[in-house]
Amino acid sequence: MPDRTRTQAEVVLDALAGRPDGAAVRALRGVRAAVVGGFVRDTLIGRVPREIDLVVEGDTAEIAAALGGTLTSYESFLAARVSGDGWSIDITQARRERYPRPGALPIVEPARLEQDLARRDFTVNAIAVTLERGELIAAEGALEDLAAHGLRVLHDESFIDDPTRVMRLARYAHRLGFTVDPHTAALAAAADLGTVTGSRIGAELRLALLEPDPLAPLADLTEKLPITVDRALVQAALALAPPDASRTLLILAAVTRERAPATWIESLELLARERDVVLQAKRAPELAAAIEAAKSPSELGAILRGVPVEVIAIAGALGSAAATRRWLTELRHIALEIDGDDLLAAGIVAGPELGARLERTLARKLDGQIDDGRQAELESALGERP
Ligand code: CTP
Repeated sequence: MPDRTRTQAEVVLDALAGRPDGAAVRALRGVRAAVVGGFVRDTLIGRVPREIDLVVEGDTAEIAAALGGTLTSYESFLAARVSGDGWSIDITQARRERYPRPGALPIVEPARLEQDLARRDFTVNAIAVTLERGELIAAEGALEDLAAHGLRVLHDESFIDDPTRVMRLARYAHRLGFTVDPHTAALAAAADLGTVTGSRIGAELRLALLEPDPLAPLADLTEKLPITVDRALVQAALALAPPDASRTLLILAAVTRERAPATWIESLELLARERDVVLQAKRAPELAAAIEAAKSPSELGAILRGVPVEVIAIAGALGSAAATRRWLTELRHIALEIDGDDLLAAGIVAGPELGARLERTLARKLDGQIDDGRQAELESALGERP
């Protein structure tokens, strides 16, 4: 009778062999390494895995060298990433983890593969297939949970040790369409993300934003994080967003704008532009009112020039979509053909007056009060009283 476990291991190894980066892994014969986590989980449920994660009981550097690729990063002595032509593989040394306090980063030490599986977040991620002998090793209940499409923590302290797993749970539930086991759901409901640093929350938010449907996991987290999910509003804003807008950043700004305190946003350690957009989105209702009140294109320009396109799209979704669309698709691209040098050459002295002349000329151009072309612009800029 064929061994079901063996068959699953073969499925995983065959999937590995079929990948361009799998060739490098296959060269690892004789090394005690296993493919683990998302690769095994996804393959066994018929999904295309995103990346290969290897866990080894020896030195990661040795494996990296055996893979023949370039070592591109070395997060700690227990982890490495190697990449070659068109492939990249994460390698971690099998580890045991100890959490010095809830929410803190764990202290890790080398351990056996079985112990490495036991320290993981959910049973369906705690399945490995060794490369050497094609052996499938799984945490207790992992294969059953995978077959049942269920998400279950390996132990009751999982969310206390690492509350960011609540955010991972939401991502997996929606991406995989898995059901959260009721006991795990109760533990998740009691989890406190307040023990985790803002930068780790920021990193997890980023991952949520990269999911196929980011609003689904985010909607599960509104009691844990100061966010609100208004799907209709986000969809309206995305429909207004021009190609140069970042869709993920727009979503982040839309969900944080109502409830997230500025100090919390600062703590996420976003990139400067991201933080700027997210903070500015708080003004969206004000901008929406101003857009609706604007009586001319130049008034719109005075309100919207310099405001990030993501924020404008959100404001448009809250108020006048038509005026916002016109600004984003047409008016914001209107610029003068002349510049300060032209005015200097014509005898205007350098200073604020020169800038003000250009600004007023642009306003007249936006409002269709001057003809096209440099000459008309120059006459307009020079003709007015200082
Ligand atoms: N892990 C964990 N707790 C975390 C983060 C990760 O236990 N807070 C474990 C998970 O079991 C996961 C492994 O570390 O399988 C690697 O993490 P990650 O690369 O984020 O997961 P993948 O399985 O590679 O990716 P995914 O499942 O998202 O496809």
